[in-house]
This record gives sequence, structure tokens and C-alpha cells, in this order.
Amino acid sequence: MTKHDHSERAIGIIAAMQIEIDGIKKKLTDNYTVNISGIDFECGYIGDRRVVCAKCGVGKVFAALCAQTMCMKFALDCIINTGVAGGLADGLKVLDVVVAGDVVQHDMDTSPLGDPVGLLSGINIVNIPCDKNIADTLSECVKAEGIKCITGTVATGDQFVCTEEKRQYIKSTFNAAACEMEGGAIGHVCYVNEVPFGIIRAISDGGDDAASLDYPTFARLAADNSVKAVLRFIETYR
Ligand code: ADE
Repeated sequence: MTKHDHSERAIGIIAAMQIEIDGIKKKLTDNYTVNISGIDFECGYIGDRRVVCAKCGVGKVFAALCAQTMCMKFALDCIINTGVAGGLADGLKVLDVVVAGDVVQHDMDTSPLGDPVGLLSGINIVNIPCDKNIADTLSECVKAEGIKCITGTVATGDQFVCTEEKRQYIKSTFNAAACEMEGGAIGHVCYVNEVPFGIIRAISDGGDDAASLDYPTFARLAADNSVKAVLRFIETYR
């Protein structure tokens, strides 16, 4: 196989920001970069596992652009989205981890036309289920790192959630455990491309009135917790 042959099946890893993906990129061997539409896809190996990593940028459009490109240019076993999130579930603390059982887009709303809030017109679902084997394996990997982990709904939207009111709306409308800005878009792209996917997010803040202060304090530490579990996942997932 030549270096730039993309036919060997890879685990695709997507994160919005550098601090969420650097810990994985650093472990790549035999690596090289392919730039497409302004996104660097870093290809290589971790152990004997082929891995493609990308920093997609913040928000649903960048996330979808990155996930769709990854699906089209590389042979993928799955896509994992790693990073940080605002915690919504009761009892969840900063640095704990949420593994998504499913994803919703909390800012998708055609309810004035009679649809349920969050409905993805065309595919006609609100909650997109994650791959169960991937979610279970990710949860085991988090726990093996000694980090608290829950499984639940991850709610995605093009907003940094930082008011008690917005937090309560997302929590109660979607029964969401965490909020972030990319997972739902990546899940949406994977769903239509029939690529198994998983979302893992460590809590950097509570999505509440203190979120704008907590986020810069805890984002890096939280991102590291998610990365640790993903590295273990890459070793384990078959
Ligand atoms: N990512 C981390 N914290 C977040 C928040 N409060 N809202 C949206 N995305 C986030």
C-alpha cells in the first residue's frame, strides 16, 4: 500500500478545536496531511490502526463539511467526534464525560409548521442514534481511565449556551445530558452516509450563567479527558 492510498479502512476522528485533537494528532506515526476545503486531514497510524484526524472548526456547517469530506475521501470504519461540552444532566460535574446514545439539533425548529421541535425534515427524525457498539466501547474506555461517564442525548446547535434559561430549555425539551456545537451535524452526515459514529464529550462548563467563565478555565483539562478515552478506544475498537 502506498502512503497516499486511502483504501485502508480508518477510524475518523473529528474535533472542533486544536486543544481537542492535538493529543491524538501527536500520537500518529507515518503521518501526512491532506488539505481539502481548508481542513487539514492528518492521516497515519496509532499502533497498527489507521487513523484520520481533523480539526473541523466550530459549529454545525464546519462540522458537516468536514464529516462529509471524510466520508467521501477516506475508507472509514467509523467517525468519532471528541471534545468538550456544557453539562446539563443532574449530578454531572466539570471533567466528567458524556457519551452520546443519540444526538439532536436543538436549534432546528419548524414547529410553527406543525413539526416536532428538532425534526430533521427529509429524514424525518429528531434523535439520531449513535452506533451502540461504539457508544458502549467509548463508555468502557472512559471508565477504564477512572473518569465518571454517563450515556445520554447530546444536543447540538450553533450557540454557546450560557444562560440558565437556554440551558433549561435544551435540557427539558430534548432530555439532553450535554450541549455542544458539532456532534449533531456529524451524526446527521454519518446517518445519511451510513457510517457508524460516536460522540464523546467531556464537560467544560454547565451551560449556565457561569459558563463563559468556566469554559476558558476547564476546556483544556476536559478536552484531555476525552482524548484519553479516544486513544484507548483506538486501541480497543475492532
Ligand atoms: N462547548 C462547551 N461548552 C459549551 C456550551 N456551554 N455551549 C455550547 N457548546 C459548548
